[in-house]
Amino acid sequence: MGQLRIRPLNKLSDDQFDVVQGIFEQAYPDWLRLSIDELDGGRGSDRIAVAGLLDEVPVGFAAVRVLPRSGWSFLRYFAITPDRRREGLGRTMWTELVDYLALNVAPRRLVWEAQLPERSQPGSPQHEARTTALAFYEAIGGEVLPVHDYVMPTTLGLPAEPMLLMALDPTSPVKDPNGLVKSLLSEHYGV
Ligand SMILES: CC(C)(COP(=O)(O)OP(=O)(O)OC[C@H]1O[C@@H](n2cnc3c(N)ncnc32)[C@H](O)[C@@H]1OP(=O)(O)O)[C@@H](O)C(=O)NCCC(=O)NCCS
Repeated sequence: MGQLRIRPLNKLSDDQFDVVQGIFEQAYPDWLRLSIDELDGGRGSDRIAVAGLLDEVPVGFAAVRVLPRSGWSFLRYFAITPDRRREGLGRTMWTELVDYLALNVAPRRLVWEAQLPERSQPGSPQHEARTTALAFYEAIGGEVLPVHDYVMPTTLGLPAEPMLLMALDPTSPVKDPNGLVKSLLSEHYGV
């Protein structure tokens, strides 16, 4: 297997872009997906959208929004193509993504929202996907923040959805979870 490389979406060929769009659409339900245009601010922007490529073939997608005042990056989406899951690519892409952020002057510390398995039908594909995502986050060292009753705000047009908030600082445990939540709400959601 070749090395997984991170490349911004605006540097992909049209065919590669279409594959990435397919990975995104497969991994997230309509109601949780923003448009890729919205996620990709282009060079120098605080909105970073990338593909993970193996030998020029897209196998993953990630979108990040930099929260500059807090020194964190908000991971908005992260997915691996369904036919290549459970091969370690998610773990590898996570590491490469963090390095890519640092090279592009973005914080390596990531905060993200995770869907709650208990808000889906046990045994349903949604329930399985949410459980898998949590197992993955745990495996890469993500911390569940002690923030109760967090609900994703509706300011970006997404529904108000109760979520778990998780974070990973490669250098230490999260020191100020409440401050981090406030930054996410104000810097990203504008509330
Ligand atoms: C979550 C996701 C990114 C994981 O990608 P992946 O390439 O399959 O993950 P990896 O192979 O690197 O797995 C790393 C570790 O995560 C855990 N893990 C991953 N998939 C798992 C599963 N189905 N069940 C249990 N644990 C799992 C394991 O601990 C695994 O390590 P191991 O294989 O040595 O046991 C992928 O399943 C995906 O794209 N899901 C849909 C999108 C999504 O839910 N994204 C997260 C929400 S933001």
